Amino acid sequence: MAVAFYPGSFDPLHRGHLDVIDQALDLFGSVVVGVLVNFEKPSGLFSPVQRVQLIEASLDGRPGVRVAAYGGLAIEAVREAAADFIVKGLRSGADFDVEQQMAHMNRSVGHVRTVFVPCRPDLGFVSSRFIREIASRGGDITELVTDPVAAALSTTFAPSEQAGTQP
Ligand code: PNS
Repeated sequence: MAVAFYPGSFDPLHRGHLDVIDQALDLFGSVVVGVLVNFEKPSGLFSPVQRVQLIEASLDGRPGVRVAAYGGLAIEAVREAAADFIVKGLRSGADFDVEQQMAHMNRSVGHVRTVFVPCRPDLGFVSSRFIREIASRGGDITELVTDPVAAALSTTFAPSEQAGTQP
């Protein structure tokens, strides 16, 4: 059985991510979800440890999934996790342009291949960035995330913590 490595920022995990995990489980039976640093957006809302905890709490008994945080390159994390290849979800052609380049870099430098799965069309618009933005202004994102993530966002953005709405 092959082991798939699913890397991402997961700040926070949303239902589109869970769909990719489910597709990878269906296809390969074993998935390592790696919380990695995106060096273009190194600091985030939740710490890597919190992100791992939120993913674990959201898995709802799915067998065959491990979750861990890694500090360096994706290709190093793949080796550390003893995984066979990377799996990524594609929401759009724009995703493909970025992901294709990363896949070629990871294959060229680290000899690790990437498998793409198409995201569920009804979740193709979901992004962690907009979930953070909407939740920070008190918007209701509960349909797009799991209960543990919704609870963590609501605690983080309790009324006294909410970002200002003044222009
Ligand atoms: O959820 P994101 O932010 O789109 O995930 C991007 C991520 C974390 C997978 C990517 O930035 C990454 O692989 N970071 C680890 C550093 C790395 O390997 N960089 C070289 C990429 S070719």
